[in-house]
Amino acid sequence: MTGRRTPDADSATRSATRPSGRSPDRSADRSAGPPPDSPDELRARALAELLAARERTSALTSCVDDPELTAQHSPLMSPLVWDLAHIGNQEELWLLRAVAGRDAMRPEIDSLYDAFEHPRAERPTLPLLAPDEARRYAAEVRGRALDVLDSSPLRGSRLTDAGFAFGMIAQHEQQHDETMLITHQLRRGAPVLTAPEPEPAPPFTGPAEVLVPGGPFTMGTSTEPWSLDNERPAHTRLVPPFFIDTTPVTNAAYQSFIDDGGYAESRWWAPAGWDMIRSGGITAPLFWRREGGQWLRRRFGHLEPVAPDEPVLHVSWYEADAYARWAGRRLPTETEWEKAARHDPVSGRSLRYPWGDTDPTPERANLGQRHLRPARAGSYPAGESPLGVRQLIGDVWEWTSSDFLPYPGFVAFPYREYSEVFFGGDYKVLRGGAFSVAPVACRGTFRNWDHPVRRQIFSGFRTARDAAPTEADRTDTGPLGHV
Ligand code: AVJ
Ligand code: FE
Repeated sequence: MTGRRTPDADSATRSATRPSGRSPDRSADRSAGPPPDSPDELRARALAELLAARERTSALTSCVDDPELTAQHSPLMSPLVWDLAHIGNQEELWLLRAVAGRDAMRPEIDSLYDAFEHPRAERPTLPLLAPDEARRYAAEVRGRALDVLDSSPLRGSRLTDAGFAFGMIAQHEQQHDETMLITHQLRRGAPVLTAPEPEPAPPFTGPAEVLVPGGPFTMGTSTEPWSLDNERPAHTRLVPPFFIDTTPVTNAAYQSFIDDGGYAESRWWAPAGWDMIRSGGITAPLFWRREGGQWLRRRFGHLEPVAPDEPVLHVSWYEADAYARWAGRRLPTETEWEKAARHDPVSGRSLRYPWGDTDPTPERANLGQRHLRPARAGSYPAGESPLGVRQLIGDVWEWTSSDFLPYPGFVAFPYREYSEVFFGGDYKVLRGGAFSVAPVACRGTFRNWDHPVRRQIFSGFRTARDAAPTEADRTDTGPLGHV
C-alpha cells in the first residue's frame, strides 16, 4: 500500500552475512532496513504517498460544511480548517523553502499555523484562512511541491537523501489526518464517515500470553530511510525475559475491571490518575455510557453496544496502568514492546514489522482508516510476530510504561520541535499505530507520545509481567544462544 519495495531477498543475504559482534555500530548494521532505491523508485513512492495523504485530507474536510470546519469541537483539538492550512504550511516550509530555497508565499500566515505559537484552544479566535482559501493555499503549495519532487535528485543533501523530506511531509499530513479523525470522533451530530466493517474473525483461542526470551535486542533504526529522528539510532539493549499479552486487552476484560469496582478503589491507581478520575467523575473509557444495564459507546456518530471481543479504545495511560495493576500485571516498557514486535529469535535480527521486512497489507494489519474501528482481538494471524504476538501494528495505539526520552546518540533532525522539545516532559510513549494511522506513518520503530491523561486518542494497551530468567538469559551467549 505504501509502495515501498520488498527487501526480503536482500534481508536473507544480510542475515546470512550478519556480523557476530555486538558493538552498537555492528548491531546497527544488523537492524532491519530496505536497501537504497533508485531515484525514480523513490520519486514514485514519495509521489504516491503525497497523493494518498491528500486524498484522505480531502475526504476528512469535504464531508462536513464550512461552519463545521471552522468550529472548535473540543478544546483539545484545532478547528479542522486549522489542520488543513497547517498541512499546507508545513509542506511549504519544508518542500518549497527548505528543499527548494523558495521565498515564503504568504509570510503573514506562518505564525497562525505555528503549533508552538498558539495552543489549540486559542486557534478558533485567530484570523485563520477560510475553508476555501485554506484549500486553495494547500493545493497551490502541492502543485509547486510536486515540481520540486520532479526535479530533485533525491541525493546529495541530508534533507532529500532517499526522499526523506517528502516522506516526512507525507507522514506529517497523515498524522494530521489522524488528528482530524479524532476531531470527527469528538464532533456531535450525525455520522458523516463510512467504511466497511473489519472482516469477521473467529474468536481467538490461542494462548493469552507469550514468553519473550531475555537477551540483547537491537532497538530503533539507523537505516529506515523515512524514520523520524526519535526512532534513531539503532542501539543494543539487554532485555530480561518477560511475558506479554498475545492480543490487546479487550472491552470484555476491561469491563470486568469496571464491574469489580476498579474505578472506585484508589489502590489500583497512580496518585495523579486517581485525582484525574475523581475530579473528572470518570467511571469508564471515553465515549462509553451505561443504559439499562448495558454499556454503549458513541463511535463516529453511531451509538452502539460495546463489542466485547474488540480491543478497548479511548483509555488514558492512567486507566491502562490501573487495569494492569488490578490484573496483577503491568504495562510493557517501550523496549519490551518493540522487542515483542521486532525480535526474530532465529536470526537474532530486528525486523521492520512483526511479520518481517515487507510493507503492511490489509491481511496483516488494520491501518489507514480502512475501517472505523479496531478488529476483534486475535485478528490478523498473518501479521503476528515471530514469537506469536498479534495486532502489534494497527487496531489501537498501545500505551507503554515508558516516558518519552531520546535514544543514546539522538540528534534532532530536521527540527527540534518534532521530538526534542517533548523529551522528558509529561508524556508516555504509545506504540504500534491504530486503525486511524496510515501505513507510511507506522512501523516497528515508530514512536508516538501523549500526556497520560489523554483519552480522545485511539489508545488501548496490552499488559506484561516479568518472567524468571533462565540459565540461557544469564549466560550472555548472544542472540543465537536463545534459539
Ligand atoms: C507525534 C502525534 C505527537 O500530533 O503532536 C504533527 C505529530 N508533529 N505535527 C502531534 C505532529 C507535528 C505529533 N505526534
Ligand atoms: Fe503539525
